[in-house]
Amino acid sequence: MAKKRLVVLSGAGMSAESGITTFRETGGLWEQYRIEDVATPEAFQENPALVLEFYNQRRKQLEEVEPNVGHKTLARLQEKFDVQIITQNVDNLHESAGSKHILHLHGELTKVRSTKHPHLIYDIGTKAIKLGDKCDKGAQLRPHIVWFGESVPAIDDAVPLVNSADIFLVIGTSLNVYPAAGLIMYAKHEIPKFLIDPNNVEVPYGLNFNIIQKGAGEGSLELEKKIMQYV
Ligand code: OAD
Repeated sequence: MAKKRLVVLSGAGMSAESGITTFRETGGLWEQYRIEDVATPEAFQENPALVLEFYNQRRKQLEEVEPNVGHKTLARLQEKFDVQIITQNVDNLHESAGSKHILHLHGELTKVRSTKHPHLIYDIGTKAIKLGDKCDKGAQLRPHIVWFGESVPAIDDAVPLVNSADIFLVIGTSLNVYPAAGLIMYAKHEIPKFLIDPNNVEVPYGLNFNIIQKGAGEGSLELEKKIMQYV
């Protein structure tokens, strides 16, 4: 028999136990930096060096962090389920843990792309880029990140994936940022749905999530036990 499909929507809380700060909590990244200074196309136009440096630091941090129990549990679940991860995270920790099917909604830190030819995308790992670093056609490179105010092209692939879920898991996201947050509306009504987060996350009334109010590591171990009945 084909494996049941487990579709996961992950956010910054997924990587919190790996030491990467979330965005909206006290002490989070958006308290340390203003979104408008570092994460918009306008910011890149006005002060490209600052924006590049912001992402250079985030990229460099990837050298120091490792997947946590949560990432590893989701990777292990591939033995029993057809696991599809849709992540808002720009880190590479799902990959490092061994998950095979990952859709990055908001881009990837380890990639950069041409400012003029968006199809020219380069893998740079954890290296820095600076003003003057150019694509093969001579245009400045930029982070391969979806900034505020930009469209989220991967959403078109994400919608049918969520709709195809036999089990749906939302983990470590405040569900504040659209269109990503709207994806939860596309899970079929009758399937089991779980939400792992140590804090209260508001989900629209009637969606019937089983709430596991724990961190990603502990929470995903509990989820693993709960979903074995569906194998
Ligand atoms: P947020 O910072 O908005 O939310 C993080 C969520 O993780 C919150 O609900 C926390 O309660 C939860 N959390 C904290 N610690 C946790 C733990 N140990 N285990 C599990 N959950 C934990 O982050 P996102 O919802 O991912 O976009 O934010 C969405 C987008 O906004 C990001 O992708 C980013 C940001 O601006 C871009 O940069 C384009």
